[in-house]
Amino acid sequence: MTDAFDVIVIGGGVIGMSSAWRLAGTGRRVLLLERDRTGAEASSAAAGMLGAQLETSSPGPFFQLCLESRSLYQNYVDELREETGVDAQLNHNGIYQLALTETEAHALQRRMEWQIQAGGRAQFLSSREVYESEPLVARNFGALYLPDDGNIHAPLLIRALSLAVKRTCTVLEGAEAISIVTHNSLDYTVSTHSEKYVTRTVVVATGAWAPHLLPSLTGRIRPVKGQLLSIRPRRATLQRTIFHHHTYLVPKRDGTIVVGATEDKEAGFNRDVRADAVQYLLDSAQQVAPGLSDAVFVRSWIGHRPGSEDAHPWIGELAESPQLHVAVGHFRNGILLAPVTANMLLDSIERRPWPVHWQAFHPARVSHEGEVTI
Ligand code: GLY
Repeated sequence: MTDAFDVIVIGGGVIGMSSAWRLAGTGRRVLLLERDRTGAEASSAAAGMLGAQLETSSPGPFFQLCLESRSLYQNYVDELREETGVDAQLNHNGIYQLALTETEAHALQRRMEWQIQAGGRAQFLSSREVYESEPLVARNFGALYLPDDGNIHAPLLIRALSLAVKRTCTVLEGAEAISIVTHNSLDYTVSTHSEKYVTRTVVVATGAWAPHLLPSLTGRIRPVKGQLLSIRPRRATLQRTIFHHHTYLVPKRDGTIVVGATEDKEAGFNRDVRADAVQYLLDSAQQVAPGLSDAVFVRSWIGHRPGSEDAHPWIGELAESPQLHVAVGHFRNGILLAPVTANMLLDSIERRPWPVHWQAFHPARVSHEGEVTI
């Protein structure tokens, strides 16, 4: 048994690693426990969209949180590059949300209005403007252009974060945390299959697997399987992410395009790459960008998003469990929200007051529905 650590972070995905790295930057001794390899699950599967405006459906705290995290990204990747030499390929190339019918165009124009009022930049482009800038896409009724959304190369981001935490924290891979126990609400004992660690501060960032460790999250956090694939255009490619309904095409600097994604709430932790999902994604890609129909198929894969009841994350200290913090339920936005989540956890641990728009994501928002205890 050892108590050499100020903080134990459980979970080596993008949220756990960003938080551990941030906490280590304050001089804390941080232990990061990861049951597999760092970034083995949803974080590496992600398409890497930074869709702060794309992924939000109304003004409010979630929109503000997404914009805030997007605004942190340049510094975040610059610092990671300085620390590790790995460039996570942040791309500020904007996103087109395509209208394939007149009704969709009207809905996107309304969307543009509230986004501008809420502080985002957005512009509605005519079909001619869309065609001139993205000749591979389908005949359309225009597009909502979100110039400040972008994308990142998720596997490179994970590589950079893995190097950063291995330099600044103690990282144990293949070390599954199986219980967190407290006897006096002051010290926590975190057990793996072979060791016990004592600390005063714990962060649980185990994504869709969080209920395994915190049974009170059962039914509140659950896996939402997503399937993606990648293609390599033979000639011209897209300049920016194109999104329509549930389908996105994200061009990467390596010349491939990531096509996503399915959403399956019933699949649990199933890992099958399904033929019908591949077919659905290819059909959708063909509908959105017929100019890519002769692209070369590269591969298909799955990830388990950490879904939550309201599709928003839970970040902060659990009621009745001082200095036991969670950062889970980021659903479709773990990559985007990693920098702001790390800041929120640091302020939570240091008991600094949170701005109002962060408070909407505190676990206390649901504590009236039932006890949240470990
Ligand atoms: N962030 C997009 C997705 O989860 O499919």
